[in-house]
Amino acid sequence: MQILTTIPETQTACRTLRTTGTLGLVPTMGALHAGHLSLITAAKRDCAHVAASIFVNPLQFGPNEDLAQYPRTFDEDCAKLEAAGVDLLFAPTVETMVPKNSATFVEVAGIGDRLDGVHRPGHFRGVATIVAKLFHILSPDRAYFGQKDAAQLAVLRAMTRDLNFPVDLVACPIVREPSGLAMSSRNEYLSADHRQRASILQRALTAATDLHKAGRHNTAQLIATTRQLIAQDHNINIEYVAAVDPGTLLPLDSTAQGALLAVAIKLGTTRLIDNVLLEPAHVQ
Ligand code: PAF
Repeated sequence: MQILTTIPETQTACRTLRTTGTLGLVPTMGALHAGHLSLITAAKRDCAHVAASIFVNPLQFGPNEDLAQYPRTFDEDCAKLEAAGVDLLFAPTVETMVPKNSATFVEVAGIGDRLDGVHRPGHFRGVATIVAKLFHILSPDRAYFGQKDAAQLAVLRAMTRDLNFPVDLVACPIVREPSGLAMSSRNEYLSADHRQRASILQRALTAATDLHKAGRHNTAQLIATTRQLIAQDHNINIEYVAAVDPGTLLPLDSTAQGALLAVAIKLGTTRLIDNVLLEPAHVQ
Protein backbone atom coordinates (compact mmCIF):
# COMPACT_ATOMS: atom_id res chain seq x y z
CA MET A 1 0.00 0.00 0.00
CA GLN A 2 1.35 3.42 -0.96
CA ILE A 3 0.99 5.98 1.85
CA LEU A 4 0.93 9.50 0.41
CA THR A 5 0.59 12.82 2.16
CA THR A 6 0.83 15.46 -0.58
CA ILE A 7 -1.76 16.45 -3.14
CA PRO A 8 0.42 16.35 -6.30
CA GLU A 9 1.82 12.86 -5.61
CA THR A 10 -1.69 11.57 -4.77
CA GLN A 11 -3.16 13.06 -7.96
CA THR A 12 -0.39 11.43 -10.03
CA ALA A 13 -0.71 8.05 -8.30
CA CYS A 14 -4.52 8.00 -8.71
CA ARG A 15 -4.25 9.00 -12.36
CA THR A 16 -1.83 6.08 -12.88
CA LEU A 17 -4.13 3.61 -11.06
CA ARG A 18 -7.09 4.71 -13.19
CA THR A 19 -5.23 3.86 -16.43
CA THR A 20 -5.72 0.17 -15.55
CA GLY A 21 -9.21 0.17 -14.08
CA THR A 22 -11.77 1.84 -11.84
CA LEU A 23 -10.83 3.50 -8.55
CA GLY A 24 -12.98 3.25 -5.41
CA LEU A 25 -12.47 5.72 -2.56
CA VAL A 26 -13.26 5.14 1.12
CA PRO A 27 -12.94 8.50 2.93
CA THR A 28 -12.42 8.13 6.70
CA MET A 29 -11.28 10.02 9.77
CA GLY A 30 -9.30 6.97 10.94
CA ALA A 31 -9.87 5.02 14.18
CA LEU A 32 -10.96 2.27 11.83
CA HIS A 33 -13.47 -0.39 12.89
CA ALA A 34 -15.43 -3.17 11.20
CA GLY A 35 -17.83 -0.60 9.70
CA HIS A 36 -14.99 1.06 7.77
CA LEU A 37 -13.62 -2.33 6.73
CA SER A 38 -17.02 -3.25 5.27
CA LEU A 39 -16.71 -0.14 3.04
CA ILE A 40 -13.29 -1.36 1.88
CA THR A 41 -14.74 -4.82 1.17
CA ALA A 42 -17.53 -3.25 -0.91
CA ALA A 43 -15.03 -1.08 -2.80
CA LYS A 44 -12.80 -4.09 -3.52
CA ARG A 45 -15.84 -6.01 -4.78
CA ASP A 46 -16.73 -3.23 -7.26
CA CYS A 47 -13.46 -1.57 -8.28
CA ALA A 48 -10.10 -2.57 -9.76
CA HIS A 49 -8.24 -0.32 -7.30
CA VAL A 50 -9.12 0.97 -3.84
CA ALA A 51 -7.90 4.14 -2.14
CA ALA A 52 -8.69 5.23 1.40
CA SER A 53 -8.13 8.56 3.10
CA ILE A 54 -7.52 9.31 6.75
CA PHE A 55 -8.09 12.91 7.71
CA VAL A 56 -9.56 14.13 11.00
CA ASN A 57 -11.33 17.07 9.43
CA PRO A 58 -11.32 20.10 11.74
CA LEU A 59 -13.94 21.86 9.57
CA GLN A 60 -16.65 19.41 10.62
CA PHE A 61 -16.17 19.84 14.39
CA GLY A 62 -17.91 22.62 16.28
CA PRO A 63 -15.98 24.78 18.78
CA ASN A 64 -17.16 22.69 21.77
CA GLU A 65 -16.89 19.30 20.10
CA ASP A 66 -14.38 16.47 20.44
CA LEU A 67 -11.72 17.37 17.81
CA ALA A 68 -8.85 17.20 20.30
CA GLN A 69 -10.03 13.92 21.87
CA TYR A 70 -11.04 12.24 18.58
CA PRO A 71 -9.25 8.85 18.57
CA ARG A 72 -6.11 8.79 16.41
CA THR A 73 -4.73 5.30 15.75
CA PHE A 74 -2.73 5.82 12.56
CA ASP A 75 -0.34 2.84 12.78
CA GLU A 76 -3.13 0.36 13.58
CA ASP A 77 -5.26 1.90 10.82
CA CYS A 78 -2.46 1.45 8.25
CA ALA A 79 -2.07 -2.21 9.26
CA LYS A 80 -5.83 -2.77 8.84
CA LEU A 81 -5.94 -1.06 5.44
CA GLU A 82 -2.89 -2.97 4.22
CA ALA A 83 -4.43 -6.28 5.38
CA ALA A 84 -7.71 -5.37 3.66
CA GLY A 85 -5.87 -4.93 0.34
CA VAL A 86 -6.07 -1.15 -0.04
CA ASP A 87 -3.75 0.12 -2.81
CA LEU A 88 -3.28 3.71 -1.73
CA LEU A 89 -3.77 5.69 1.48
CA PHE A 90 -3.99 9.48 1.35
CA ALA A 91 -3.19 10.87 4.80
CA PRO A 92 -2.71 14.62 4.46
CA THR A 93 -1.94 17.12 7.21
CA VAL A 94 -4.43 19.81 8.21
CA GLU A 95 -2.21 22.43 6.56
CA THR A 96 -2.34 20.47 3.28
CA MET A 97 -6.14 20.13 3.26
CA VAL A 98 -7.06 23.45 4.86
CA PRO A 99 -4.27 25.95 4.18
CA LYS A 100 -4.52 29.16 6.18
CA ASN A 101 -5.61 31.16 3.10
CA SER A 102 -8.51 28.75 2.29
CA ALA A 103 -11.58 30.84 1.46
CA THR A 104 -13.85 28.46 -0.49
CA PHE A 105 -16.39 26.17 1.16
CA VAL A 106 -19.14 23.88 -0.08
CA GLU A 107 -22.53 24.46 1.48
CA VAL A 108 -25.52 22.29 0.64
CA ALA A 109 -28.31 24.70 1.53
CA GLY A 110 -31.45 23.23 3.07
CA ILE A 111 -30.44 19.58 3.37
CA GLY A 112 -27.23 20.57 5.17
CA ASP A 113 -29.26 22.38 7.84
CA ARG A 114 -31.52 19.44 8.71
CA LEU A 115 -31.19 16.63 11.32
CA ASP A 116 -27.56 16.76 12.55
CA GLY A 117 -27.21 20.07 10.68
CA VAL A 118 -29.62 21.63 13.21
CA HIS A 119 -27.65 20.42 16.21
CA ARG A 120 -24.16 20.77 14.72
CA PRO A 121 -24.22 24.07 12.80
CA GLY A 122 -21.56 24.11 10.07
CA HIS A 123 -20.90 20.37 10.38
CA PHE A 124 -22.10 19.43 6.90
CA ARG A 125 -20.36 22.45 5.35
CA GLY A 126 -17.14 21.00 6.74
CA VAL A 127 -17.93 17.49 5.52
CA ALA A 128 -18.98 18.63 2.02
CA THR A 129 -15.93 20.88 1.61
CA ILE A 130 -13.47 18.13 2.49
CA VAL A 131 -15.23 15.40 0.50
CA ALA A 132 -15.34 17.73 -2.55
CA LYS A 133 -11.59 18.28 -2.18
CA LEU A 134 -11.00 14.51 -1.86
CA PHE A 135 -13.02 13.96 -5.04
CA HIS A 136 -10.86 16.52 -6.86
CA ILE A 137 -7.59 15.11 -5.53
CA LEU A 138 -8.26 11.38 -6.00
CA SER A 139 -10.82 11.47 -8.89
CA PRO A 140 -12.51 8.23 -7.81
CA ASP A 141 -15.10 6.47 -9.96
CA ARG A 142 -17.00 5.41 -6.84
CA ALA A 143 -16.98 6.56 -3.23
CA TYR A 144 -18.22 4.49 -0.28
CA PHE A 145 -20.04 5.83 2.79
CA GLY A 146 -21.83 4.18 5.71
CA GLN A 147 -25.62 4.29 5.95
CA LYS A 148 -25.18 5.07 9.66
CA ASP A 149 -24.44 8.67 8.65
CA ALA A 150 -27.69 8.88 6.68
CA ALA A 151 -27.90 12.69 6.77
CA GLN A 152 -24.27 12.94 5.60
CA LEU A 153 -25.17 10.66 2.70
CA ALA A 154 -28.09 12.89 1.69
CA VAL A 155 -25.84 15.97 1.83
CA LEU A 156 -23.09 14.30 -0.22
CA ARG A 157 -25.55 12.96 -2.80
CA ALA A 158 -26.92 16.47 -3.30
CA MET A 159 -23.41 17.93 -3.53
CA THR A 160 -22.29 15.29 -6.05
CA ARG A 161 -25.37 15.94 -8.19
CA ASP A 162 -25.24 19.74 -7.96
CA LEU A 163 -21.51 20.05 -8.64
CA ASN A 164 -21.55 17.35 -11.36
CA PHE A 165 -18.88 15.18 -9.80
CA PRO A 166 -18.51 12.07 -12.02
CA VAL A 167 -18.54 9.86 -8.92
CA ASP A 168 -21.05 7.15 -7.99
CA LEU A 169 -21.84 7.24 -4.27
CA VAL A 170 -22.33 3.80 -2.74
CA ALA A 171 -24.15 3.51 0.60
CA CYS A 172 -23.16 0.49 2.68
CA PRO A 173 -25.28 -1.10 5.44
CA ILE A 174 -24.77 -0.25 9.11
CA VAL A 175 -22.42 -2.67 10.87
CA ARG A 176 -23.34 -3.36 14.50
CA GLU A 177 -21.60 -4.57 17.62
CA PRO A 178 -23.00 -7.85 19.08
CA SER A 179 -25.19 -5.73 21.44
CA GLY A 180 -26.82 -4.02 18.43
CA LEU A 181 -24.97 -0.72 18.89
CA ALA A 182 -24.01 0.76 15.50
CA MET A 183 -20.23 0.76 15.00
CA SER A 184 -18.68 4.20 15.38
CA SER A 185 -15.23 5.51 16.21
CA ARG A 186 -16.93 7.45 19.03
CA ASN A 187 -17.98 4.16 20.72
CA GLU A 188 -14.40 4.21 22.04
CA TYR A 189 -15.53 6.94 24.46
CA LEU A 190 -18.19 4.70 26.06
CA SER A 191 -17.71 2.65 29.20
CA ALA A 192 -18.80 -1.00 29.05
CA ASP A 193 -21.99 0.02 30.89
CA HIS A 194 -22.74 2.84 28.45
CA ARG A 195 -22.07 0.58 25.45
CA GLN A 196 -24.70 -1.82 26.78
CA ARG A 197 -27.16 1.03 27.47
CA ALA A 198 -26.63 2.50 23.99
CA SER A 199 -28.02 -0.67 22.41
CA ILE A 200 -31.49 0.70 23.33
CA LEU A 201 -31.24 2.75 20.12
CA GLN A 202 -31.40 -0.32 17.91
CA ARG A 203 -34.13 -1.91 20.03
CA ALA A 204 -36.24 1.26 19.76
CA LEU A 205 -35.69 1.48 15.99
CA THR A 206 -36.59 -2.21 15.62
CA ALA A 207 -39.81 -1.70 17.62
CA ALA A 208 -40.76 1.22 15.34
CA THR A 209 -39.91 -0.86 12.26
CA ASP A 210 -42.20 -3.64 13.50
CA LEU A 211 -45.05 -1.13 13.93
CA HIS A 212 -44.44 0.23 10.42
CA LYS A 213 -44.45 -3.31 9.02
CA ALA A 214 -47.73 -3.96 10.86
CA GLY A 215 -49.30 -1.05 8.95
CA ARG A 216 -48.90 1.74 11.53
CA HIS A 217 -47.56 4.50 9.28
CA ASN A 218 -48.37 7.60 11.29
CA THR A 219 -44.96 9.18 11.92
CA ALA A 220 -46.07 11.08 15.05
CA GLN A 221 -46.96 7.73 16.67
CA LEU A 222 -43.79 5.98 15.48
CA ILE A 223 -41.66 8.86 16.76
CA ALA A 224 -43.50 8.87 20.10
CA THR A 225 -42.95 5.11 20.54
CA THR A 226 -39.26 5.39 19.66
CA ARG A 227 -38.82 8.33 22.06
CA GLN A 228 -40.64 6.55 24.90
CA LEU A 229 -38.47 3.46 24.59
CA ILE A 230 -35.23 5.45 24.53
CA ALA A 231 -36.37 7.77 27.35
CA GLN A 232 -36.73 4.78 29.70
CA ASP A 233 -32.99 5.19 30.24
CA HIS A 234 -32.69 8.42 32.22
CA ASN A 235 -28.98 8.65 31.38
CA ILE A 236 -29.85 9.34 27.75
CA ASN A 237 -30.61 12.81 26.40
CA ILE A 238 -32.51 12.62 23.14
CA GLU A 239 -31.36 15.19 20.57
CA TYR A 240 -33.82 14.18 17.88
CA VAL A 241 -36.05 11.36 16.67
CA ALA A 242 -37.23 12.10 13.13
CA ALA A 243 -39.00 10.37 10.26
CA VAL A 244 -37.90 12.06 7.05
CA ASP A 245 -37.54 11.65 3.32
CA PRO A 246 -34.07 10.04 2.94
CA GLY A 247 -33.20 12.29 -0.01
CA THR A 248 -34.35 15.71 1.22
CA LEU A 249 -34.37 15.02 4.99
CA LEU A 250 -37.73 16.81 5.16
CA PRO A 251 -40.23 15.47 7.74
CA LEU A 252 -42.94 13.08 6.59
CA ASP A 253 -46.46 12.62 8.01
CA SER A 254 -46.61 8.99 6.96
CA THR A 255 -44.06 6.22 6.44
CA ALA A 256 -46.30 4.41 3.92
CA GLN A 257 -44.08 5.46 1.00
CA GLY A 258 -40.91 4.65 2.96
CA ALA A 259 -38.92 6.86 5.31
CA LEU A 260 -35.65 7.33 7.11
CA LEU A 261 -36.25 6.98 10.85
CA ALA A 262 -33.23 8.60 12.49
CA VAL A 263 -32.18 9.25 16.07
CA ALA A 264 -29.42 11.20 17.79
CA ILE A 265 -28.75 11.03 21.51
CA LYS A 266 -26.19 11.99 24.09
CA LEU A 267 -25.07 9.41 26.60
CA GLY A 268 -22.83 11.22 29.05
CA THR A 269 -20.79 13.46 26.78
CA THR A 270 -20.85 11.06 23.84
CA ARG A 271 -23.12 11.84 20.91
CA LEU A 272 -24.47 8.78 19.08
CA ILE A 273 -26.62 8.46 15.97
CA ASP A 274 -28.49 5.54 14.45
CA ASN A 275 -31.23 5.00 11.89
CA VAL A 276 -33.30 2.58 9.89
CA LEU A 277 -34.69 2.87 6.37
CA LEU A 278 -38.38 1.93 6.47
CA GLU A 279 -39.39 0.35 3.16
CA PRO A 280 -42.46 1.51 1.24
CA ALA A 281 -45.50 -0.44 2.49
CA HIS A 282 -46.37 -1.99 -0.87
CA VAL A 283 -42.97 -3.73 -1.37
CA GLN A 284 -43.18 -5.63 1.94
O1 PAF B 1 -17.84 9.96 7.75
C1 PAF B 1 -16.71 10.42 7.99
O2 PAF B 1 -15.83 9.73 8.52
C2 PAF B 1 -16.38 11.87 7.62
O3 PAF B 1 -17.50 12.67 7.80
C3 PAF B 1 -15.82 11.99 6.19
C4 PAF B 1 -16.83 11.53 5.15
C5 PAF B 1 -14.55 11.18 6.06
C6 PAF B 1 -15.50 13.46 5.87
O4 PAF B 1 -14.55 13.98 6.74
